[in-house]
Amino acid sequence: MTTQRMASIPIHRDESADALSGIAAHWLMTGELPPELVTGHKLIDFEHRFLVSAIANLRRVCIDHEALVNCKACGRGIREACESQLIGMLGDVFAFILDHFKTEESIMRDSLMIMVDRDVCQAHMEDHAEIAAKVQEIVSSLDSLHIVSRIRELDALLSRWITNHIALHDLLLSRWISREDSLIQGF
Ligand SMILES: [Fe+2]
Ligand SMILES: [Fe+2]
Repeated sequence: MTTQRMASIPIHRDESADALSGIAAHWLMTGELPPELVTGHKLIDFEHRFLVSAIANLRRVCIDHEALVNCKACGRGIREACESQLIGMLGDVFAFILDHFKTEESIMRDSLMIMVDRDVCQAHMEDHAEIAAKVQEIVSSLDSLHIVSRIRELDALLSRWITNHIALHDLLLSRWISREDSLIQGF
């Protein structure tokens, strides 16, 4: 692809994508979550690491997922390889999110946060449902000439999840648990 052609293609970047580049760079260098996204809850942090590694893998599928408009310029063999990699990743991500959301929602119930801070938990669970619905939407709109668009959509969704959902909802949940733990230790 020439520089001239690259310049004529709009590249969609937003703040969450930029923030994620920093997170992805930190991940590639250290294999760890950046400190601002560490909740302190071992299981939740372990599962979030899977999410960051899924994004790093997703970004390796296409030669230029930011700039390519569609997959027409790639040969059939490349398209088939990309499609099968993306289908595999979508399957893994979807299975992961169902498990991960179940983990967090059972922590909300077991820690009694859901009784004390119902609205906060409700908003957290609604965001989970929205993320799951968007992954399903991406799965159902797969087609072999627009794999790159689906990669872009999944990348944007996972990026927003990391930069917004974890930083807002998951950190509130982990703060509640550490407060609960310190109360128990006080007795
Ligand atoms: Fe969550
Ligand atoms: Fe989470």
